[in-house]
Amino acid sequence: MLNKIKILLKEIKEYTPSSLEDLDNFRIKLLGKKGEITTLFSDFKLVPPEQKREFGQEINKLKNLAQDKIKLLFDELKKSSVITKENDLSLPADPIELGSRHPVSIVRNEILDIFKRLGFTVSTGPEIEDDWHVFSALNFPPEHPARDMQDTFFVAQDPDILLRTHTSSVQVRVMENEKPPIRTISPGRVFRNEAISARSHCIFHQVEGLYINKNVSFVDLKQTLVFFAKEMFGHDTEIRLRPSYFPFTEPSAEMDVSCTLCGGKGCNVCKYTGWLEILGCGMVDPNVLESVNIDSQDYTGFAFGMGIERIALLKFGIKDIRLLFENDARFLRQFKSAL
Ligand code: PHE
Repeated sequence: MLNKIKILLKEIKEYTPSSLEDLDNFRIKLLGKKGEITTLFSDFKLVPPEQKREFGQEINKLKNLAQDKIKLLFDELKKSSVITKENDLSLPADPIELGSRHPVSIVRNEILDIFKRLGFTVSTGPEIEDDWHVFSALNFPPEHPARDMQDTFFVAQDPDILLRTHTSSVQVRVMENEKPPIRTISPGRVFRNEAISARSHCIFHQVEGLYINKNVSFVDLKQTLVFFAKEMFGHDTEIRLRPSYFPFTEPSAEMDVSCTLCGGKGCNVCKYTGWLEILGCGMVDPNVLESVNIDSQDYTGFAFGMGIERIALLKFGIKDIRLLFENDARFLRQFKSAL
């Protein structure tokens, strides 16, 4: 009889129910009218008197254990069989909210895609630069106003270490490391010590392009820019080049595109001129080529540079550049469909 008790104890301890029904059958098997534990109780009268005490205790222990365990398992099974949001496997998953690309990234990728199709490679470089790569190699005279504290952020009072004011610095690095022909575009963040307003910010992004080869002429520059403008703003877009000045290009020009909103008729975005200024460009000054040891007798090149934010403002009709830097999710969510 003691042996039977031991076997039952083990069985109860090891039991795990497969369902509520299975658990109920287990209960009947042990504690039902003809259950194994019930039978033990009726056999109790056969136990000799001197062993009754010990047997009585063991049988009671067994019965209590069986009852407690069965109750516990019942409670557990019932709880898990109630369908809640947490355990209902048939419910669809919570929707995952997809983010959107930042308008600056959207426009940058578009610009890069257009030039990649023309065979330009993408080059990047450091945001913290030295005077040589940002100014000196690019033919900025020592007294040029762009070096002034008003435009340039210097790092730790060292006039040689500064935050790049344009990504032309990356192109100096490319020219130092590669031999022509060079055809590269350099996207990146630039810094200028300017008052923040609706139209300008002290941090913004540029894409600058450079092509150096034998016999590169202004015609190549112009055709490249016409292609870019039409791809970027639509095939009816026209361009206009106005003479300008940059230390690193000669001749230099600024490029306007016909207003993307009014198509050139005049509106408040183009200030009734019909034109929007988009980028600066020109033929690489021979002094720049010489400063990076490219023979300016053999090679010529063109360069151009544009601000990404400015194009994003035009493209999306955004009125204030500061919105691009505030990371307000309500603003950014609107660009989901613009990917
Ligand atoms: N680097 C000039 C800027 O930051 C843009 C530019 C690039 C102009 C190349 C001409 C040629 O404004």
